[in-house]
Amino acid sequence: MCGIVGYVGPGDAVPIILGGLKRLEYRGYDSAGLAVLENAHIELRRGAGKLDQLERLVLERPLSGHVGIGHTRWATHGEPNERNAHPHIGMTGDVVVVHNGIVENFLELRAELQAEGAEFKSDTDTETIVHLLERQLAGGQSLVEAARAAFKLLKGAQAIVAFSRTEPDRLVACRIGNAGGVVLGVGEDEMYVASDIPAILEHTRRLVFLESRQMAMVTADGYSVETLDGKPAELPIQVISWDPVSAEKGEYKHFMQKEIFEQPRALTDTIRGRVDFESRQVYLPDLNLTEDRARSLSKVVTVACGTSYYSGLVGKAIIERIARLPVEVAIGSEFRYADPILDASMAVLAITQSGETVDTLAAMEEAGDKQALVWSIVNAVGSQAMRQADGCIPMHAGPEIGVASTKAFTTSIIDQYLLACSLAQLRGTQDPDTLAAYVDDLARLPDLVGGVLDHDAEYQSLAYELYQYDNFLYLGRGINYPIALEGALKLKELSYIHAEGYPAGEMKHGPIALLDENMPVLAIAIQDGVYDKMISQVEQARARGAVVIAVATGGDKLIADKADHVLYVPPTPALLSPVVNVLPLQLLAYHIAVWRGADVDQPRNLAKSVTVE
Ligand code: AGP
Repeated sequence: MCGIVGYVGPGDAVPIILGGLKRLEYRGYDSAGLAVLENAHIELRRGAGKLDQLERLVLERPLSGHVGIGHTRWATHGEPNERNAHPHIGMTGDVVVVHNGIVENFLELRAELQAEGAEFKSDTDTETIVHLLERQLAGGQSLVEAARAAFKLLKGAQAIVAFSRTEPDRLVACRIGNAGGVVLGVGEDEMYVASDIPAILEHTRRLVFLESRQMAMVTADGYSVETLDGKPAELPIQVISWDPVSAEKGEYKHFMQKEIFEQPRALTDTIRGRVDFESRQVYLPDLNLTEDRARSLSKVVTVACGTSYYSGLVGKAIIERIARLPVEVAIGSEFRYADPILDASMAVLAITQSGETVDTLAAMEEAGDKQALVWSIVNAVGSQAMRQADGCIPMHAGPEIGVASTKAFTTSIIDQYLLACSLAQLRGTQDPDTLAAYVDDLARLPDLVGGVLDHDAEYQSLAYELYQYDNFLYLGRGINYPIALEGALKLKELSYIHAEGYPAGEMKHGPIALLDENMPVLAIAIQDGVYDKMISQVEQARARGAVVIAVATGGDKLIADKADHVLYVPPTPALLSPVVNVLPLQLLAYHIAVWRGADVDQPRNLAKSVTVE
C-alpha cells in the first residue's frame, strides 16, 4: 500500500515528488524517501516517520535534479526505519529503486545474490530488486534489458520504479499482478509516474494505466510500453475529469470528516444518469448486461473486504428482496483459497473502493477462471477492479482519502440497490408497481442523509461522554446487523478501542456475559420488523448496568425511556435504512477519535488500499 512518485523532465524533481507523496500519504506513512540524479550522482534522502520528516531532511540538505523517484511506505518486510526506507540503492550507486508489493521469493534471491558477493544493507525484500538490476547492468545490459531480466525473476505482485545514472534521461516502471497501480502522467515535454492518480492530477489529466506484466520506459519526450517478454504494448491515454481540489480537505479538519459530509452529493452522483424517475427505469450501461444473460443467472456471489464486505452483506438483503435472486457474500481473503463452486450461471460481484485490494482482485480472477460473470462496484477511476471486470458500476463518490471508508460504503450500498432494480427489470422477477415504488424511494435519500448530518453537534457532545471507554458492543438485526459490524469497525480503526458488532439475537448465547457498566452498548433499534426484539435487547443490556445508546426512528417516545441516549434518524424505507442508520455511527466514531487525539486520516498500522496479502 505504499505511495510511489517519479518524474523526468526539465523541472526540478524534488518539489514535484514531495507534493505527489503528500497526496499519496494515505497509502502508507511509516517512512518516506526520495532520490534524484544530481551531477551524474544519485542523491538520496530518507527517514522513518511521516512525510514531514522527509521534508525536514530535504530542507537541511537540499538537492535537485531532473530525474527522480520518491516513496512513502507501509512496512511489510523490515521495521519502519531509515535503512529500510525506500528508495533503495545498491553497492555500485548506479541504480535506485522504489517498490510497492511483496517479492515472495526474496529470501532465495537474497541468498543467491549474497553468494555472488552482494552486500545487503536493509531487511527489505525490495533491496533484492536493486542487486538484481546491478547484476544485469554489470553484465553490460541496458536499463530496459536489465529491468526485463531482473523483474521476470520476481514472484508475487509488484509495482516498481527505478532509474540508473548510466542512462540519466529515463525512468523504468513496471507492474506485476495487483500491488497497487502504476500510472504514467503525460505532460508537455515531461513525464510523471505514480502509484495513484492524486499524485499526478495537478500536473496533467492525461494518464496511462499499466497492466500486469507490463513495463514502461519513460523519458521527458514520452514513453514506450512493452510486456516483460519484450513485446510492444499499446495503451490508451485516458483523460481524468475530477479535479485535484476534490482531493483536498477544504474547510474540514480531516478528510474523513469532509467525506462524511460529502455523502448527500456522493449519493446524488451515484444515482445521477442511472434512474429515470418518470419511467421508473434503472440504467447501468457499464454493466454490459443483456436481458438473456440476466435471465440466465442463478446466483450472485459478492466478494469484498472490510467495510466493503459489510456493504455486501447489506446488498444481499436488497438484491434478494428486489430482484428475487439468491446472493452469497464472501470475504475476499477467504474466497480466493476456498476453491469456490462457480460456473457460467453465476455472477461474482466485487465491491472495492480502491479497486486495488489484492484479495478482492484475486477473487475476481478466480471467478473469471471458473467462467462466472465478473462485476465490480468500484470508486477509484482507472483501477484494476474497474478494468478487470466484465461489467462495472462506478461509485462516482469522488476521491476517498480518509483511511476509514465512509462515502464509498454508502454509495456502494446504493449501487447494489440500483443493480437489484436493474436485475428485477431485466429478469421480470418483481411486480412492476412494487419495483416502481422501490425506484421512487431513492429520490429522497440524499435529503434524508443530509438531515441526519445536521445533528453533528449532538454526536460530538455524546462522543465526549463516551470517548474514555475501552470496550463497546454494537447490536443490530436483519439488514442493520451489518451496520452494527460497520459501526464497530469505524470505532476500532479510528480510536483503537475494542468494539464488536454482533447480531442482537445472539447476545443471550454468550456475549451478554460481557455486559456491565464498563461496556457501552450501541443498539440500532429503529421501528422496523424487529423493533420489539431490539427493545427487549436494550432492556436486557440496561438491566446489567450497560450504558445504552440507541439509533431510533424520529418520534419514537418509548425508546427514550429505555435507552440512556437516543440518536434519532428520520423514517426511511427499510431497504435504504442502513444508509441512514450508519451516519450517526460514522460521526460518533469520528468525534470519539478526535476527543482521543487519534490520527483520524492515517490511523496506525493501516493504509487506504491493502495491496498486500
Ligand atoms: C474501511 O474503513 C477500512 N479502511 C477497510 O476495511 C477497507 O474497507 C478494506 O480494506 C477494503 O478496501 P476496498 O474497499 O478499497 O477494497
